[in-house]
Amino acid sequence: MIANALRNLELDAVPVATPTGRLVGASGLLLEAVGCPLHTGQRCQIETVGGDWLDAQVVGFRDKVSYLMPFKKATGLTTGARVLPIHEKTTLKIGMGWLGRMVNGLGEPIDGLGKLTGEHELDSQPPRINPLRKTPVHEPLDVGVRAINSMLTLGKGQRVGLMAGSGVGKSVLLGIITRQTVADVVVVGLIGERSREVREFVDMSLGPEGLKKAVLVIAPADESPMMRVMATEMCHTIAAYYRDQGKNVLLLVDSLTRYAMALREVALALGEPPATKGYPPSVFSNLPQLVESAGNGENPSGSMSAIYTVLAEGDDQQDPVVDTARAILDGHIVLTRSLAERGHYPAIDIGQSISRCMNSIISKEHMLAARSLKASMARHDRVRDLIPLGAYVPGADPVTDKAVQRHPYIEHFLCQGTKEDAPYTACVENLERLMA
Ligand SMILES: Nc1ncnc2c1ncn2[C@@H]1O[C@H](COP(=O)(O)OP(=O)(O)O)[C@@H](O)[C@H]1O
Ligand SMILES: [Mg+2]
Repeated sequence: MIANALRNLELDAVPVATPTGRLVGASGLLLEAVGCPLHTGQRCQIETVGGDWLDAQVVGFRDKVSYLMPFKKATGLTTGARVLPIHEKTTLKIGMGWLGRMVNGLGEPIDGLGKLTGEHELDSQPPRINPLRKTPVHEPLDVGVRAINSMLTLGKGQRVGLMAGSGVGKSVLLGIITRQTVADVVVVGLIGERSREVREFVDMSLGPEGLKKAVLVIAPADESPMMRVMATEMCHTIAAYYRDQGKNVLLLVDSLTRYAMALREVALALGEPPATKGYPPSVFSNLPQLVESAGNGENPSGSMSAIYTVLAEGDDQQDPVVDTARAILDGHIVLTRSLAERGHYPAIDIGQSISRCMNSIISKEHMLAARSLKASMARHDRVRDLIPLGAYVPGADPVTDKAVQRHPYIEHFLCQGTKEDAPYTACVENLERLMA
């Protein structure tokens, strides 16, 4: 037995040669390697002319050629460069120590605050939940935004889209929600946005108190598409971890469109044919997989709600990503430019937005008040253009008169300053009082 152990020790000390492959092609994002067995999803390193090693992942193969995609911008690669397969699984350790920290798509800290430590191993993918064992959505989630809490109540475990063109206030709204929500942990994925926006989001929108309970996963627009895809998946895995630890988690992803665009870049590089608006079909099968990994798990004491921003380019609500998001999410909040232009912030268009879980989680009185507010707004919209012309004459229809008279109060109720807090119970009480 001792001899055996000794022999093992000796053998362990003998260096074993690792077979390396060779780079034979690089076109666009895709690198081609031959000469060593690689499997899809495997990590490897490629030697550059400067002697550095570039990290990449195997994304496909044909015959003996493996296709790799680098994590960083590929420079200094030559034909015949060594490709070193990595066999050990890289695992990350996660715990409550991750709160207040910022990581990239590989889970490496990028905030200069030192190593990340934790007591548990982070899965490489969010665990798949049997749909029959998912904890149902039955409790409201306080997001601290009056228009949402009262008119588009979200539930713990619900996944919604925040749809709008650029510059309408998506990021600012996410910042308000991160600061004011009563969730225990907020995981924020900043995917494919401008780097300047990242700093702005952290300093201005989030602030120190928002950051304390948040984990940020960041992959700005200048990151490789692989990193953007991995960062989006990473924030789902992190959120699922805290959910399974029994925490109420809110996941915010800005933006789902940029994730779809990164998937498009990867799929097109691999030779998949483009279909709708240049998006290959695999993009539309990946989106539901991602969204399905959010939501509640089997542990009833934890929950995971998610808000995805979706860019409606040119305020186009027919964009294929917008369409898909609408179909796979449990609701959508539409922000419109016309409201933002009037200074009505948050620019939520109540009429176009819907929360599919709302009716099953709120009281009857709340539901009636919300319905009555919607009806009142619709009435007012009918005569909106007549009022400034002086063509609206009160007295013909008492319901419309009431709607017109109430309108300024409703607008005031739906607007909210960025520093103003709006707890759930107060929102509901105010709504019921307003519509009484
Ligand atoms: N709640 C708000 N209150 C005041 N101004 C806002 C609000 N939301 C957005 N804005 C204005 O709109 C601009 C763009 O908002 P932003 O959230 O960055 O847009 P998006 O993320 O949709 O591109 C902000 O710089 C700010 O001037
Ligand atoms: Mg933004």
